[in-house]
Amino acid sequence: MSVCVPIFLAVYNVAFVCAFLHSCSNTVDAYFATESPIAKDKLLANIGRNGSESSGAKSGIVIASPSTNPNYVYTWTRDSALVFQTIIDQYTLGLDTSLRSQIDNYVAAQKIIQQVSNPSGTVSTGGLGEPKFNIDETAFTGAWGRPQRDGPALRANALITWANFLLTQGNSSYVSVTLWPIIKLDLDYVSANWNQTTFDLWEEVSSSSFFTTAVQHRALRQGIALATAIGQADVVSGYTTQAANILCFLQSYWNSGGYMTANTGGGRSGKDANTVLTSIHTFDAAAGCDSVTFQPCSDRALSNLLTYINAFRIYAINSGIAANQGLATGRYPEDSYFGGNPWYLATLAVAEQLYDALIVWKQQGSIDVTALSQPFFANLSPGIAIGTYPSSSATFTTLTAAVKEYADSFVAVVAKYTPSGGGLSEQYSRSNGAPTSAADLTWSYAALLTANGARNGMVPTSWGAKGLTVPTTCQRGGSGGGGGTVAVSFNVQATTVFGENIYVTGSVDGLANWSPDNALLLSADSYPIWKITVNLPASTSIQYKYIRKFNGAVTWESDPNRQFTTPASGSFTPNDVWR
Ligand code: NOJ
Ligand code: NOJ
Repeated sequence: MSVCVPIFLAVYNVAFVCAFLHSCSNTVDAYFATESPIAKDKLLANIGRNGSESSGAKSGIVIASPSTNPNYVYTWTRDSALVFQTIIDQYTLGLDTSLRSQIDNYVAAQKIIQQVSNPSGTVSTGGLGEPKFNIDETAFTGAWGRPQRDGPALRANALITWANFLLTQGNSSYVSVTLWPIIKLDLDYVSANWNQTTFDLWEEVSSSSFFTTAVQHRALRQGIALATAIGQADVVSGYTTQAANILCFLQSYWNSGGYMTANTGGGRSGKDANTVLTSIHTFDAAAGCDSVTFQPCSDRALSNLLTYINAFRIYAINSGIAANQGLATGRYPEDSYFGGNPWYLATLAVAEQLYDALIVWKQQGSIDVTALSQPFFANLSPGIAIGTYPSSSATFTTLTAAVKEYADSFVAVVAKYTPSGGGLSEQYSRSNGAPTSAADLTWSYAALLTANGARNGMVPTSWGAKGLTVPTTCQRGGSGGGGGTVAVSFNVQATTVFGENIYVTGSVDGLANWSPDNALLLSADSYPIWKITVNLPASTSIQYKYIRKFNGAVTWESDPNRQFTTPASGSFTPNDVWR
């Protein structure tokens, strides 16, 4: 009897069944068939003024979640834009023609929100970077990680998709008169501020962030094409210059470990759903498997994906899951928010990236296995050699089937941990898979719909990623960049013994070029915070460490080096704790 128990239990584990008894495909077909209409209903329920969970929200306002504990009854520019990108794609691709008035309401609401003065500024002094507002369209004035500069870019991307569709319908006057002024405000903000420090999409790290940079790049490229189409030629040359600069900067997040470092600051591994979300939200099937724009099937994005996935084997619910099977993934492995759990939208993003990749491989009729992507493919097809496999080959058939099965196995994880009733919260527990944090997260529902869309071969309209090349020299432009210096105020919390002192040194002249002998002494006037303000070059990526000196002995902080990119102008304050 005791021998039978493990086998009996195993049969109840959906992922296990899906791996060994039959493919995940049927499980996932059934899950999406049931869950998609639920997700659509629950997504719309969170949109004012008529959504059933949207009490108090103005027309077109997306509530992040109706949860009051944690309190998510606010409207985030990022969440709203991603939700409406989903709605606009569904409408414009003909999947749901009932959504037109929702889109009109969103446009009207964003036109108002843009003009609301808030703690980040007014519409002309940085207020567009404000991350969230009250649902009655007034400013949220509490403390928050601000600004978050992905918001205006994501909103522009959604609205440009909408504008492009309307142009195909011959409605160019609405595009020029109503949409363009809203879009232009966001694009001007992106063009002028992309090089400034920002909080990341998780609202925690203030530095530069891959997702933010990538969606900003997309916004300007799409903006250039739209401006050209509607005769707004005056913005084209400025946006073109900055788009090239952003594309250049975007490459600098790649690291030799074979993945994208999510943030230039924050002191983490850099393995982060930020990067997978980037790949799906800048997907452009016309660009093929281009690695410069990090397309879902590019070798960089596949290498990155495998690294990201494996970082989440730390969760108890992933224990024992085979290397070639889907598992529960979250924001980043160091996450501690609500205990640091898998997120539905993160696990679904893995599947979506792979479905997007399959669309392109089938469209182009071949798969390239490069040295960089070989480990990703070998995980699914042991021994696979570097090479190009045309769609006529047996290997192409094997690989595409394996990738499809792998993608489905991530959805199967989400299916397994979707409670009866189909509600999707923000997170599911790392220890038992139970839903946790905010219930009915609007973004979770959008993520489910876009993953299903990609699985069904839905291709979003092109944004112009095809054929882009990285300039040979990068200008870290934005407004006021180039040549100047900024005041950097280093603050580090460090307990010391009497006679021991804290110094800083790093990768630039102003930080004594990594010399412990010439390192700069910090002041202990605010002990245990040690401080020094140094003028350093603007728009520059800088690495540094603190060191302690005591009785002639030098002790360095532990690896890795700390890093930030100075803003184009103004000042910058790293707040660190000795490690
Ligand atoms: C609330 C933010 O929305 C979330 O992303 C973050 O993890 C927590 N605050 C903790 O900083
Ligand atoms: C916390 C997430 O980290 C952030 O990305 C999101 O915008 C807010 N919650 C609202 O959903």
